[in-house]
Amino acid sequence: MRGWKSSFCAGVATAFCLAAFGTGAVGWSAGDRIGAGAGIEVGAAMAKSTGTRGDRQESMEAQEQQKGPKAGTEIKTVALTFDDGPHEEWTPALLDGLKERGVKVTFFLMGQNIPGKEAIVERMAEEGHLIGNHSYQHIQLTRAGTEEVCQAIERTGEMIRGLTGVKPQYVRPPYGDWNEELECQTGLTTVLWDVDSLDWKYRDQSRVVEKVCREVADGDIILMHDIFQTSKDAALDIVDRLQADGWQFVTVDELQVD
Ligand code: NI
Repeated sequence: MRGWKSSFCAGVATAFCLAAFGTGAVGWSAGDRIGAGAGIEVGAAMAKSTGTRGDRQESMEAQEQQKGPKAGTEIKTVALTFDDGPHEEWTPALLDGLKERGVKVTFFLMGQNIPGKEAIVERMAEEGHLIGNHSYQHIQLTRAGTEEVCQAIERTGEMIRGLTGVKPQYVRPPYGDWNEELECQTGLTTVLWDVDSLDWKYRDQSRVVEKVCREVADGDIILMHDIFQTSKDAALDIVDRLQADGWQFVTVDELQVD
């Protein structure tokens, strides 16, 4: 996989989540955000993928005797993540498709979208998906006061805990806009992404599928939104294509050091 933090730098210009909510590009500098403690250690997946390095140091003789399955058949993992939901129609449709395929994903829910869709949140948890916090409203968190941000995140976390019994430990800040102070205050683990599907912008299944499948690497986190039909269709198409190539889908907590 590529370094997710450095690839995030490149993605910052497009880091605003949804034009529909949006005010355009995020103004903060990537350098401020990529500091210590930013996000989960996807490096664990990298360690896994390089775990055979020691084998190369074995003698040539030993290597020649190992004419079994070719190296490179190791399983690649990827985490699909969906922000801004739940959506009354597309989230259940996505859940149906994921269930058929035996795939678990991560949803970062926005508190204001939960009322009226409580059953969808309960279903996510029942079906083994990981639920994270995407704050209450789609605002740039570093432009709000720390106390206000913490309250918004806390409120959303409590809503989710009330429905699932589990308070989210992971946060994806809207627009990827975050800082160390917020991280300290909330105590949550920040999760950004490696591959930005740009689904909210393209609204086109094949373009999204093509972009993601071209860019994805082992251990990556893919950013999508379960509030568009095209995103739902693209996500299931991506699952079908990557599963056919032997990829395994995991939730973001499973990308951590184990
Ligand atoms: Ni968002």
